[in-house]
Order: sequence, then structure tokens, then C-alpha cells
Amino acid sequence: FFFLSMFIGSSQTNYEESKVPSFEVLDPLLTFSGYTINSVKKWEKVRRPELLRFFENDIYGKLPKKLKINSYAILEEDNNALNGKAKRKQVELTFKKKGKTLSYTILLYLPKNKVKAPIFLGYNFYGNHTITEDKAVIISSAWANNNESFGIENNTLTEASRGKRTHRWAVEKILDAGYGLATIYYGEVDPDKNDFSDGIHPLLYQHGQNQPKPAEWGSIAAWSWGMVRALDYFEKDADIDASKVIAFGHSRLGKTSLWAGATDERFAGVISNNSGCGGAALSKRKFGETIAVINDRFPHWFCDNFNQYGDNEEALPVDQHQLLALIAPRPLYVASAEEDQWADPRGEFLSSHYATQVYHLYGKKGIETKEMPMPNEPIHNTVSYHIRTGKHDVTDYDWENYIKWANAFVK
Ligand code: GCU
Repeated sequence: FFFLSMFIGSSQTNYEESKVPSFEVLDPLLTFSGYTINSVKKWEKVRRPELLRFFENDIYGKLPKKLKINSYAILEEDNNALNGKAKRKQVELTFKKKGKTLSYTILLYLPKNKVKAPIFLGYNFYGNHTITEDKAVIISSAWANNNESFGIENNTLTEASRGKRTHRWAVEKILDAGYGLATIYYGEVDPDKNDFSDGIHPLLYQHGQNQPKPAEWGSIAAWSWGMVRALDYFEKDADIDASKVIAFGHSRLGKTSLWAGATDERFAGVISNNSGCGGAALSKRKFGETIAVINDRFPHWFCDNFNQYGDNEEALPVDQHQLLALIAPRPLYVASAEEDQWADPRGEFLSSHYATQVYHLYGKKGIETKEMPMPNEPIHNTVSYHIRTGKHDVTDYDWENYIKWANAFVK
């Protein structure tokens, strides 16, 4: 994606710090009407709601709140999975509305002999069966992007892709640390294409509607909704500590975990791995991927109102550090990769620094310095940050740090 993007629109893509436009960093504690917030109470009553409303109406889009789980089914369960290390469950959630049905399956690995485990919840890109070699993991029949190296043809997932993404999921490390892992194939909630007739969309429409209105949901909001409903299920599962669910996501799915954490305060912590534009990175820096480019290439991700800010970032009365601030005072981890310039690592770092102001209201520490750390030198506080060497990806290094942070601030 990175190299491709360098060719498409290379005239606009800026990778030079000296060419970052100067802009005013918007104060998370200054209301739209110019009032300075100085207490948790006012933040929660006045400022947080107005920011959330703006992100909802102009960036990710609003989603009807009424659609709840209709039923769930434990498709499969094994108390001796992963060579006796884990309890595995595959749970299908079903939603129904006006004759339409949507189902998606959560794959759960839980530490054995643990009552009520804290868990990481995150979507995967190519199906639950790609995150492990475990033969018992059910292969999704949902639409998937073709991918030659994963043997995915005709938009269909098969055995050929089993275990292809194990390097992104440190399942053993997670279990050894006493956490469970829950993952869902994002294509089951909404296939990742510019098509609003599939996935969850038909269940969200009012009578006669066939596409979201300008202030209504895009796919990121739809995926976030799927995480929120998974959390509803966790509240019913006696093996899980639903008060300790950490929303995790990489890249477009990191944009998704941030939005899930912002919209649902039940998430106990949030991880943004290389989420970039429309995620943790500051839009007004226009470094790497920009609003115009992301809306052009992925017109279905955000709500249509977001288009008005393409090549017009100056007009935005918010920036992404204020999205991060919506997660306060809950633990937040923002991570970048050195070679992932498309996602603007510095923009992700500064964003976590500027969001820290709101954590201070709650007496929590975050990214106190404006000086970016060296690669592989993490800063761990309630708001944590690291930039690691290497490319756009999720690695064991990332997970080791997420676990340390979760041990210190979530568990
Ligand atoms: C593309 C896109 C990014 C996104 C990434 C991903 O590179 O431009 O915004 O984060 O895909 O999800 O892998």
C-alpha cells in the first residue's frame, strides 16, 4: 500500500517534515464557543459530548443505537485447545431486523483455569483461521479481498490461508500473561468494499433507505459497532471479565478500535497499532496519507460529510488528538512503525501528546514530552507510545509492550 500510494498522487504526498504546514493545535479543553474547561465534570458534561458529536456527524458517521444481539450460539468449544494451553470457543452472534439477518463469529482463546479473564478484542483482515494453525478454527464464508499469496480467489476464504497471519497474533504470549484473545473477521460485519447493500448495512436502514445519509455511518463506524456488540456478549460470558476488555486494532482496524473506544466507555483500554490517517495521526499535518486521498481510495470508510475536509483541513474544527482524548481517562496505547511513513508516525506521537492534557484533568500521566522517543524506546504511562523499527505490521515486540502496559494500567 505504501509504495503504491507513493505513485498514486505522488505530487501531493508529503514525506518531508519541513513541508508540514504550520497550523494551530486545537485545544481539547476549549469548547467550540470559546469556553475553557477546567474540571472533569465540565469535560464530561460539555466538552466531551460536543467533540463526540462532531466526530460522529462529520467524520465516522452516526449509527442507529437500537440494533442489539438477537441470539448467540456457541458453535464449538474445547477445554484443551492449543496443546492444552487454552480454552477455545467459537461464538456466533446473530442480529435480525425486518426480515434481514447478520451473523458473525467470535473466536475466543482463554487462559485455562482462570475465572473471568481480561481479554484483548481485535478484528482480523482475512478470517479467524488465519491467526492460528489451529485446525478447529472455522473458515468464514463471508466475502474476502482476493490475495494471491494467501490463495484467496473469487473472494472466497479456504484452507490455503490457514495460519497465514500467525505472526501478527502473539496468542501464546497473551495467554501466558493471563489474558484471553477474542478476534472476529471484519468482513463478516461489513465486507471492505464500497457497497452499502451488504454486511450490516441493510439492517441499519430505515424503511425505503438504501444508503447512509451524509452524517450516517461508514464502514469504520460499522466495524466499531461490531466490537461494541461483541462486548455486549462478553457481559454474558462467565469466562470473561467484561470490565477488562481492551479494544485492539491495526491500521484501518486501529481507526476502528479508536472509534469503538471513543463511543463505548465500557472498553477498559484501547490500542491503536499503526492507525494513521483518520486514526491516531493528526490530519492537519497533511503528512503521508491525507483526508482527500483516503476518501478517494476508500469512499466507504467515513461518512460523506468527511469529504468536505479533503484538501481543506484548515476548516476542521477538531483533529485526531481530540478523538484520543475521548478515551480518557482509560488507558490508551498508540504505536507507530519507523518505515510506516504513510501513517505519519510523528503525527501519531504528537496526537498522543496533545491528548494527554485531558488525562491530566483526571490526574493521569500520558505522553509528557514533545520530543519523539527513539525507535524501540517505549514510553509507558496511562497513555503510552512507541515507535518500533520495521514496517507497517503487528509484531511480537508490539504485543510484548501492549501486555506490559495492560499489566500496569488495565489489569
Ligand atoms: C491503506 C490505507 C490506510 C490503512 C491501511 C490498512 O494503506 O491507506 O489508511 O490504514 O491501508 O488498513 O492497512
